[in-house]
Parts: sequence; structure tokens; C-alpha cells
Amino acid sequence: MPAAKPVEDSLEKISAEVTGCPLCKLVRTRKNAVPGEGQLSAKIMFVGEAPGKCEDEKGRPFVGAAGRILDEMLAKAGIPRSQVFITNVVKCRPPNNRVPESDEVAACMPYLNRQIALIRPRIICILGRTAYSSILGGGSITANRGKVIERGGQKYFLTIHPAAAIYNRNMLAILEADIKLLAREVQKVKEGQDSSLEDYM
Ligand code: URA
Ligand code: SF4
Repeated sequence: MPAAKPVEDSLEKISAEVTGCPLCKLVRTRKNAVPGEGQLSAKIMFVGEAPGKCEDEKGRPFVGAAGRILDEMLAKAGIPRSQVFITNVVKCRPPNNRVPESDEVAACMPYLNRQIALIRPRIICILGRTAYSSILGGGSITANRGKVIERGGQKYFLTIHPAAAIYNRNMLAILEADIKLLAREVQKVKEGQDSSLEDYM
């Protein structure tokens, strides 16, 4: 018998797998898994920590208080949310929003890696400490925020988690400046072209 043709991966396939995923203990407490959302053609990918209460209820990333902050920062930097991809390190809500545990991160990471492989974003924006440590093995995000780093041919931009800015004006100002920096960075990657909104498409 001829070998079966390998099924090509797709964002839809990943979402379907995540939605029914039983691979770590968070399956027992989640309402809805949150695969992430956005365009295959996205030039920027945002990676947060894990879904919170609103996200767990709606099955969508960054739709609660932290999401409102992120939306505001994107708007101020002129980055349309509809043209980026937004997801989390861990796709299911940890009980009481505790930090995801290492076994949960390890079980979930293949989904993120597949999303990155398909989208091939110009830059991945790491939101906060959990994403920084899980993806890049990093330590303090406050000491490294605002930086662009390159690993294995992939560019990453480091910034704080939007949740840290909910009740903190200083953090809000930092995040706003960082996301504007990120917008400039994405335009720089597209060499020799002027900066316009088209650059995000
Ligand atoms: N915090 C996160 O890290 N991700 C979300 O999707 C929402 C809040
Ligand atoms: Fe599966 Fe990730 Fe959800 Fe765990 S957090 S059940 S690995 S989708």
C-alpha cells in the first residue's frame, strides 16, 4: 500500500486540536481552551502567559481587562489587532490564574511552536515573564524589556505583560512606549520600504 500523504498543518487544525486537548491537567478545570487568533499572514505575533477568566469563558485570547490594555496600546502604535496573531504559552486557564507549571508549559509548547512555524512572523512580541522564561529561558522581564533579540533566526521583542499595567500608570507608559518601539522595529525589518500601515499586512 502506498504511504498515506502527510496531512499538512494549518492554524485551523491546531485550533481544533487545542479545543479538544487532554494533554495536561488544565483540561480538568478549563471551560474553553484558547488556541489564539489572527492571520496566517501576521507579521507580529503576541504571546502572553495563559487565558484568564474572560478568555476561558469566551475561548478567545486577551478579551478581558489585560486585553483592553493591549487593544489600547496597539491602537496607539497604529497596529490593527485584526492583522496580528495573538496567543499564549499555555492555551488553558490555570485555576485562579496561577502561573502555569512547567509540566503544563512543556505539554502545551508544541502548539505554539507549530503556530510560529506556520505564521513565520517577522517578530514575536513576548508579553511578560512567563512567556520570556518559557520561550527564551529568560529571567527578569523588567530588566530586559524594550529589547530586540534574535534566536535561531527568529526575532523577538520583549515587553511587560499588559496585566501589569492595569492599575499602574508607570507600567502603562512603559508598555505604550515599548509597543511603539515594536511597531518601528517591524517596519525596519521590511528593508527599503517606507513605513505605512501596509507594513503590518
Ligand atoms: N493574560 C494572558 O496572559 N493572556 C490572555 O489571553 C489574557 C490575559
Ligand atoms: Fe492541552 Fe495546552 Fe490545554 Fe494543557 S494547556 S490541556 S497542553 S491545550
